[in-house]
Amino acid sequence: MDYLQIKRVNSLNGNIKISGAKNASLPLIAMVILAKNSVSIKNLPHVADINTLLKLLSNLGAKCNREEDITTVDTSTLTQTKATYDIVKTMRASILVLGPILARFGHCEVSLPGGCAIGQRPVDLHLKALEQMGAVINIEAGYIHAMAPDGLKGCNIIFDKITVTGTANIVMAAALAEGVTTITNAAREPEVVQLCEILNANGVKIDGIGTAVLTIQGTDKKLIHIDEFSVIPDRIEAGTYLCAAAITRSELTLTDVNPKHLGAVLSKLQEMGSKFTTTEDTITIHPSDVIKAVKIVTQEYPAFPTDMQAQFMALATQAEGTSIIEERLFENRFMHVSELQRMGADISLNGNVATVNGKSKLSGTDVMATDLRASSALVLAGLVADGITNVHRIYHLDRGYDSLEKKLQNVGADIVRLKE
Ligand code: UD1
Repeated sequence: MDYLQIKRVNSLNGNIKISGAKNASLPLIAMVILAKNSVSIKNLPHVADINTLLKLLSNLGAKCNREEDITTVDTSTLTQTKATYDIVKTMRASILVLGPILARFGHCEVSLPGGCAIGQRPVDLHLKALEQMGAVINIEAGYIHAMAPDGLKGCNIIFDKITVTGTANIVMAAALAEGVTTITNAAREPEVVQLCEILNANGVKIDGIGTAVLTIQGTDKKLIHIDEFSVIPDRIEAGTYLCAAAITRSELTLTDVNPKHLGAVLSKLQEMGSKFTTTEDTITIHPSDVIKAVKIVTQEYPAFPTDMQAQFMALATQAEGTSIIEERLFENRFMHVSELQRMGADISLNGNVATVNGKSKLSGTDVMATDLRASSALVLAGLVADGITNVHRIYHLDRGYDSLEKKLQNVGADIVRLKE
């Protein structure tokens, strides 16, 4: 197993190119199940989750070909409809194939994803919405069995909670359904917006893109032709490198990024003392002498993302004063707290609220990554901790960060990948 070894750095300097967004790529790859042609996708990030989904589609009979910057996916040869446990257990987002496979073939079986480090993460809202569209769903022996032999029918769906993959799944199911589907309380994340925009540009009329009410005109099982497209930049990867600059008080320029997707993150960093210069696709963060404490509440887009909570907690350990971080989306997303405490952070937890007293002197030690974003928080802490920090179990990190250690090395970090 690999681990990362990080030594304290005085400052970072240079440019980091942001990769395509993992969370946009996953629904966009699943979307190809709705296409009759071989689809070319540009800017997919080189991360394990993408390989997992491509492997799942290949197992089902699709042809996937990955080159450096262009991936082609052809689902015209897809014949199997069962997403098995061995793949789903490694990536919950495998549930994204349920909507499009059911809509196209009239049946689909997906292993139940089970528990997850950051909380329960049920898929009940996906299933309830598909049932409203006419699917018959049974859970048997750990599998979701979904049937819609006469096809899915458009209807009005009101999500009880905002769900990102739930919205994507139902948008894809609705794309091939008969009639009009309206989704109220839809997710407005940029990743959902890109999925809708591409479908809309390729023959599935969708109104309300980027709002909480989406109206999708189904094609009644007619597969669509999807033109080549390029995945949007990863706003969470970008936010993580902005935190790396802020915590080391460095000047860094991010390229191939969309500042408009980072509103809440930039505004919190500004409150903490950072300054920025932005263009349409770059962000330069300027160093600040003092990092100020903040109050953060994680919520759905456009509010502050839960996927940036752990990284901001690492940053808050270096802020002057007391920061309060409230996690509203996932009940157990504080696994990084005990590892940061082991490095010397002063953090107390009360339910879903963390109180971080800064500024703490951090010391390098052996720490364990517990989930994807928790991993990067430990890397950030390692950049400013005295001595050597070894971050173990980085397979979590490899699920979602494209070449993290290389990108950090290029801007002057002392970080290497080693074998246990
Ligand atoms: C997506 C992102 C993940 C991010 C999360 C929240 C992908 C691949 N993953 O995850 O990185 O942290 O959004 O921004 O895009 N819920 C239910 N029932 C459901 C579905 C969700 O109760 O059927 C709850 C969840 O437990 C959670 C909340 O709704 O408390 C939001 O979850 P959701 O938006 O669905 O997260 P994911 O789409 O899994």
